[in-house]
Amino acid sequence: MSEGGIKIRASVPAKAILFGEHFVVYGKRALATALNLRLNVEVSDRVGSEGGYHLIVENIPSFGLQMDLRGVDTDADADAQPHPQPFLNYGEASRAIAYIRCAIQYMERRYGHRVEGGGGGGRGVEIRVSSEIPLSAGLGSSAAVSVATIAALKRYFGLWNGDLEELRADAHRVEEAVQGKASPTDTAISTYGGYVVIEGGEVKRLHDLPEIELVTGSITTIPLGAGAEHLSELRLKTRKLVEAVKARKEAFSSVFEYIASAADVLTVEAIEALRRHDLARVGSLMNINHGLLDAIGVVPRELSELVKLAQDAGALGAKVTGAGGLPELGGTGTVIALPAEGQSAKLETVMGLTGASVRNLRTKARGLVVDVEENRCS
Ligand code: PMV
Repeated sequence: MSEGGIKIRASVPAKAILFGEHFVVYGKRALATALNLRLNVEVSDRVGSEGGYHLIVENIPSFGLQMDLRGVDTDADADAQPHPQPFLNYGEASRAIAYIRCAIQYMERRYGHRVEGGGGGGRGVEIRVSSEIPLSAGLGSSAAVSVATIAALKRYFGLWNGDLEELRADAHRVEEAVQGKASPTDTAISTYGGYVVIEGGEVKRLHDLPEIELVTGSITTIPLGAGAEHLSELRLKTRKLVEAVKARKEAFSSVFEYIASAADVLTVEAIEALRRHDLARVGSLMNINHGLLDAIGVVPRELSELVKLAQDAGALGAKVTGAGGLPELGGTGTVIALPAEGQSAKLETVMGLTGASVRNLRTKARGLVVDVEENRCS
């Protein structure tokens, strides 16, 4: 297919909640930051095509492979080749596609932009997504794909007016349309980058906090024995965990109020400690926050072990980030650990021993970046 004249590339960061997840649902404060893992959406002309939108989803971090190992050590099956199957990838890629479809429909309804499909010889639009952000790991991949798609389409259709808050609100509506309920945190981080504090449902940017190093460990593999019903539950993980916390809150209302208030105070103290670059204190507060998350039942064994290993390996602090995990989904989720000076390589090695996918990342990453490539012949 011949490529046409214009290509828009929108790139956005991943997010991590540093303090206050879950309690933020009850009006307490939370602190989130952008990580230097990026998702890119490219929108370009597709000349001479059938028209309509052509979508390519490439290079999204895998949920692992499953393969049948018959034939590995028996002569009878010596010629049989193992057939690696992308495990869960199709389902998860289709989830990414749901956000892109919804973004296209949203653009048509809100801004009246329609790309005619069919007919041949027409002009279509190609949308190409590539990502470093693991899916369903609490690192904001859904918001990232929504923000980047809307930003690239707006720019492509000449609707870009530089209003980032309008873009964030557009992407937030797309997230809500696909998943029902969405917190404003993720779209704010994808759009603005840096740090944000969420308070009473409002998002405020914090410009005076320093960039720090974090080691993340994501458990993204689901046990092969998990039934199909569990696999489809993966995309509902956050919702299920939020509901489980609500049930616990109702069952232990007075105790929960103390825990939530402690989380709120802790978030404020952590912001102050970060501002002073007192990383030892930030780390201790992460450990306490993790304990509070454990108390409300969102820390499965796999994530708990990862946190303990990081703490034992000398991390200044470690905690679950985001919604947490469910035992029936193999504890899928992410842990963040704050390395002591010069200790990140050791921390990465130790955390990697669990089979988690480990990354050395930095906070305060840049928000949305849009590039335009014009390639017209004169
Ligand atoms: O794991 P994530 O990225 O879906 O984060 C969820 C964070 C919660 O506080 C549990 C819910 C929310 O909407 O803030």
